[in-house]
Amino acid sequence: MVGTSSPRNGVPLLRLRNVEKSYGDVPVLRGVDLDVERGQVVTIIGPSGSGKTTLLRCVNFLEVYNGGSIAIDGEEVGYRDLARRRMRSERELARMRAETGMVFQMFNLFPHLTAAENVMLGLVKVRRKSRGEARDIATHWLKQVGLTDKLDRLPSELSGGQQQRVGIARAVAMDPKILLLDEITSALDPELVGEVLDVVLKLAEQGMTMLVVTHEIVFAQEVSKRIVFMADGMIDSEGPPDQLFAPDHGSERLRTFLARFRLHH
Ligand SMILES: Nc1ncnc2c1ncn2[C@@H]1O[C@H](COP(=O)(O)OP(=O)(O)O)[C@@H](O)[C@H]1O
Ligand SMILES: [Mg+2]
Repeated sequence: MVGTSSPRNGVPLLRLRNVEKSYGDVPVLRGVDLDVERGQVVTIIGPSGSGKTTLLRCVNFLEVYNGGSIAIDGEEVGYRDLARRRMRSERELARMRAETGMVFQMFNLFPHLTAAENVMLGLVKVRRKSRGEARDIATHWLKQVGLTDKLDRLPSELSGGQQQRVGIARAVAMDPKILLLDEITSALDPELVGEVLDVVLKLAEQGMTMLVVTHEIVFAQEVSKRIVFMADGMIDSEGPPDQLFAPDHGSERLRTFLARFRLHH
């Protein structure tokens, strides 16, 4: 099972309220409200530049948000005093960051470390596991993503799809409360996309809580009961796939966006 941390009843695992983020004078997030319940998968779709990556980076506090609130399990992510916008110490930020696992478009594996060593690194350095225990956890998760026979391979000896599966194994091995996936298949050759999405589907079935940015619309329909459409730094519309993708439903913007995809109804 994944997500072993103790549940707090009634509080969504991830709660965003009126989140605002600007780069200089340019607003990029303009008041985002979003809840993700424990065990739920929410996908975010939307045109390029609509703020999807920025939103995920704010949840991980890789970006400082300027307004509103982001809480994981009821705990504010970046601020120890929200009203005065006093940030947490680096140590506290590191602790909060470890509650989210993030996988990016580019694989970001250490090239000089094997698949197993890439997964072990955070377990040893951050989670303070012994090398033996870290190796066992790495072996478990690399098996889960179908890479039992690649434990001791370097990233350069792996395909893009295999590297991305190592990236997923590395993120879940840390036992995060929520997994954040940002277009994790968009740098892959088309024939390698399926093997990576299959791993995500399997994690969803196992009850992993996930916030998934994707441009794979069919995959979004399959993996999540709730899809959020972002446009221009705001949530334009959201709902179950059938409802959101119904022919006469949603804003002009959503219909224009969806017109680019051929959908299975
Ligand atoms: N570091 C940055 N500095 C200035 N502007 C940025 C920065 N990162 C992103 N932006 C701008 O913020 C907007 C949203 O970007 P992003 O979150 O990457 O959108 P998406 O992931 O939906 O394509 C874009 O207009 C982008 O140019
Ligand atoms: Mg992006």
